[in-house]
Amino acid sequence: MLQDEIIRLKREKNAVILAHYYQDKDVQDIADYVGDSLELSKIAARTQADVIVFCGVNFMAETAKILSPTKKVLLPVKEAKCPMAMMVDAPSLKKYKEEHPDRIVICYVNSYADVKALSDVCVTSANAEKIIMNYKDQKMLYVPDKNLGIYLRDKYNLDIEVWPGFCCIHNHLKVAQVLEMREKHPGALVLIHPEAPLKVLKQADFIGSTKQIIDYATSSPAKEFIIGTEDGILHPLRKNNPDKQFHILTPDLRCWDMKLTTLQDVYLSLKNDTYEITVPEDVMQGARRALDKMMEMS
Ligand code: 13P
Ligand code: SF4
Repeated sequence: MLQDEIIRLKREKNAVILAHYYQDKDVQDIADYVGDSLELSKIAARTQADVIVFCGVNFMAETAKILSPTKKVLLPVKEAKCPMAMMVDAPSLKKYKEEHPDRIVICYVNSYADVKALSDVCVTSANAEKIIMNYKDQKMLYVPDKNLGIYLRDKYNLDIEVWPGFCCIHNHLKVAQVLEMREKHPGALVLIHPEAPLKVLKQADFIGSTKQIIDYATSSPAKEFIIGTEDGILHPLRKNNPDKQFHILTPDLRCWDMKLTTLQDVYLSLKNDTYEITVPEDVMQGARRALDKMMEMS
């Protein structure tokens, strides 16, 4: 069986498999650790393994490499890329900084190393609120997710400019979809990821990262939930809570880049050492500084 071969190769190569909650359920089930962007970064930073197989999209594997530069980091599918991370580039950010030298640059982890290297600090959806509050009296730029930036600006009345990037999955959520689902499932709590637009977030009972959504649903006495994030999260939600009901807010909450990775890809990645992530030396140090600052502040 493919699963047995993966386990055998993993032992032979002293590898660890990390998977994001948005991965296909077979991939989540073979992983040593399943988590959100923050948890997986922490695991990558402290692992004793020689090889990290990162089942996610390429900025995540790149982040793991920056945090664990002596390890071999593999991304099973070369084409798995987050469209949001491609919505900001280093030359444009450099130009912005020259024009706005007084703004602290807060960089969402969904970005590439050269952008991180130009930033003061990185954040994930799980720690953005905590980290941004350290700068609450200063001018900030939040890059590249406009929705998360707008959400925190609105919540705390902060001076944050936002880059016009977005997640192609969460940005399409509509208020009408929440209202319709509430009517269909009266009494269900609505849990939404902060990459959704503000007017949609205002309809939520809880806003949080994927891990925070799982923790909230697991500890809540409520029995029914409407889930406003990518549908891979339904697997851990249902596994941890067999007595509860989960409805996806819309059927198109599916990130095709996250879903590119199959068990076969994980097997081939371990067998052939594909695809190894490298980070150019000139950006490694700067990106590491912004990520280390995030780790200190989380
Ligand atoms: P978290 O893992 O921080 O919940 O973010 C979700 C995401 O969009 C990852 O691509
Ligand atoms: Fe990028 Fe959105 Fe897919 Fe996450 S869910 S990888 S932010 S496109």
